[in-house]
Amino acid sequence: MLYGKRIRLRGNERSDLPKFVEWLNDPQVRHYLSMSMPISQVSEEQWFENMLKRPSEEQSLGIEIKEGDGWRLIGNCELFDIKWRARSAEVGLFIGDRSFWNQGYGTEVMRLLLRHGFGTLNLNRIFLHVDPENVGGIRAYQKAGFIQEARLRESVFRDGKYCDDLIMSVLRSEWTPEK
Ligand SMILES: CC(C)(COP(=O)(O)OP(=O)(O)OC[C@H]1O[C@@H](n2cnc3c(N)ncnc32)[C@H](O)[C@@H]1OP(=O)(O)O)[C@@H](O)C(=O)NCCC(=O)NCCS
Repeated sequence: MLYGKRIRLRGNERSDLPKFVEWLNDPQVRHYLSMSMPISQVSEEQWFENMLKRPSEEQSLGIEIKEGDGWRLIGNCELFDIKWRARSAEVGLFIGDRSFWNQGYGTEVMRLLLRHGFGTLNLNRIFLHVDPENVGGIRAYQKAGFIQEARLRESVFRDGKYCDDLIMSVLRSEWTPEK
């Protein structure tokens, strides 16, 4: 488990999949994710099997928040495409339960993944892709320490038009561990 102030990140279980199918078919959740087709339970099971074959550092992690005496799953995240020679990795997340948006959880997940990526995995650069219109996402990433490093012009086709794609990153030298 990776523990933050209000959250923990844990390995995914097969029993998480029905929630992922529900969330990833929610138009508002998937709007800025690079998903164009509806998600089925069987395709999610296939994703899960493939995910388990990845190196342990690249396996995806459930985002849980404390609820009473237990924990409640609200989303998922991962570090992936780790390039060990460059010590660079991409990061992605979604909070599938929309009732938990804008409460600081996305920021906390990113801070925890940066701590894990830099402090434990010894990475040097962690980056992500984000839609320029995903204002909440960009704000969360900035709060966690990401800065915009590139704008890929008209590199995405969505909702009948070409859209720009932002790349944001944090370098190890810019990252300040939280006390
Ligand atoms: C993007 C996402 C992870 C952000 O998580 P979150 O928990 O809502 O983020 P946080 O609460 O930590 O931060 C969001 C910030 O944006 C602000 N915000 C949200 N919408 C805003 C808007 N329209 N205008 C201005 N600020 C906005 C919030 O107020 C908050 O800032 P604050 O804490 O300074 O008030 C979440 O919305 C999500 O999973 N979305 C669907 C999937 C997705 O887009 N994934 C990311 C792909 S790159």
